Amino acid sequence: MALALNKEKASRGFLIFIFIKPGGFMDQSKGILTQDVKRKLIAKRDGFFRKIGNQGIALTYDDVRLTTGYSEVLPDNINVESKFSKNVGLKIPIVSAAMDTVTEAEMAIEIAKLGGIGIIHKNLSAQEQAAQVARVKYHLNGFIDKPICFEENVSIGEILAYKKEREFNFHSFLIIDSNHHLVGVLTKNDFDFCEDHSLKAKQVMTKKLITADPGTGLREAYRLMKEGKKKALPLVDKDGKVAGLYTFSDVKRILFGDSKSFNIDRDGRLRVGAAIGVYDDAFERVEKLVSEKVDLVIIDTAHGDSKGVLETLKLLKKRYDIDVLAGNISEPESAQRLCRAGADGLKVGQGPGSICTTRIIAGIGKPQVSAIYECSKVAAKFGVPVCADGGLKFSGDIPIAIGAGAHSVMMGNMLAGTKESPGEFRFHQGVQYKVYRGMGSLGAMESNKGSRERYNQGKNDLVPEGMEGMVPYKGPLREVIHQYIGGLRRGMGYVGAGNIEELRTIAQFVRITEAGKAESHPHDIIITREAPNYQKQV
Ligand code: IMP
Repeated sequence: MALALNKEKASRGFLIFIFIKPGGFMDQSKGILTQDVKRKLIAKRDGFFRKIGNQGIALTYDDVRLTTGYSEVLPDNINVESKFSKNVGLKIPIVSAAMDTVTEAEMAIEIAKLGGIGIIHKNLSAQEQAAQVARVKYHLNGFIDKPICFEENVSIGEILAYKKEREFNFHSFLIIDSNHHLVGVLTKNDFDFCEDHSLKAKQVMTKKLITADPGTGLREAYRLMKEGKKKALPLVDKDGKVAGLYTFSDVKRILFGDSKSFNIDRDGRLRVGAAIGVYDDAFERVEKLVSEKVDLVIIDTAHGDSKGVLETLKLLKKRYDIDVLAGNISEPESAQRLCRAGADGLKVGQGPGSICTTRIIAGIGKPQVSAIYECSKVAAKFGVPVCADGGLKFSGDIPIAIGAGAHSVMMGNMLAGTKESPGEFRFHQGVQYKVYRGMGSLGAMESNKGSRERYNQGKNDLVPEGMEGMVPYKGPLREVIHQYIGGLRRGMGYVGAGNIEELRTIAQFVRITEAGKAESHPHDIIITREAPNYQKQV
């Protein structure tokens, strides 16, 4: 924005500044984002990155800020819904990283309840990983297409032990006879009032049931259960076999409760993804993950533009009807190859991670904002969403990643250290910390094949690409996400973007210097009260 001095008035003793808007974008000041305005804004941003790129320079979060623009949007009215992959949506554009100190079922459940999605890591056997996915999918049982059934002669004690072992938090189990015909239901009341756990299911179960036909919808199920005053509605096919189950509390919560902001699938279950390797590892995992209704899988490697990833991707897309994402990459040519091979989403980031030493020990990689911009430009031509993975430090990095073209951000460090992350607690100089380590760290690779495969390494003579450490305890995820999304909304308000697509379209960048960066952080003050959204970097 140019600043001009009105000389005539100045000579008469007035100093008047006139703001001259850059030509061509005036419509935006009327709140109209016409196609023409959008095109001009996109061209302007392309020009910024082209100029930088032509000098052989690539930028990252701390190198840039977004410029403010005319705005009619209020942060609270902004829509932050986005996409993680072609067919999997997000209510908030935040994904929890597939790392063993970040995402297992507890994190995945909570982040999906907050509108994002968690990716279960692969430092678990295929069996254990699928069980983690099952815990998420069974957490909110809108419609359960494969309800857990027990034979009528199984004891209450055995059922309770199974429930405890798999950490299921629900209490409705269907009871079948030896011909697999439904004969009863065990609900919370049956367990609560049963004092003798050696009794068989058939001696305790409720036999008076209401059932419905396969295909019964959520609302009809709710009506039937309400009318029949039943907490469970089994669906039974014409042969008397179980074809699904609805439970009252979950159906009610989904239809009327606070779950409007949950990220759920078509059947009302929380969404969750899982990381996989290449070839045999991928096929073994996917088979089990698909049977637990995982929403998507990510071929999770340090070098996504490689033969193994491309071949695995093509084979998976041929064999399974499921979204397959691939990564990580940082070059536009890599994005093109993966999109052509059928990727439903890309993960961009080679070396930005807080625990990552890849750029230092291997000398490769590209600063993250330029990598996001360049890969997103190509992916957009294929309609493939991009996730900006790693390197975020503050909430303000989220609008920057999206402004550069990403649809979502994946966080490790910013979510590690929350109540829901799987890391152990540590106390250091009176402060509470949680363990956070790279999947390519010595510890992770020594103990897990999944980590070694991510970095394409054998069992011996490991060359780590990550570090092990700890991060301050951050408290419940809900509070942390509130601040991150609050920051994103504020950023969008300043830019004038009412939704994620607009932010991806109209965001404009300015490069900042070290002095600009120092000016951006609090300075010349002794901080006397911590803010919930600003911590000095450790
Ligand atoms: P952060 O959010 O900056 O901590 O970065 C997390 C991201 O770093 C993950 O989602 C991975 O893509 C990546 N990553 C995880 N472990 C390692 C590692 O050991 N070396 C390099 N990158 C890693």
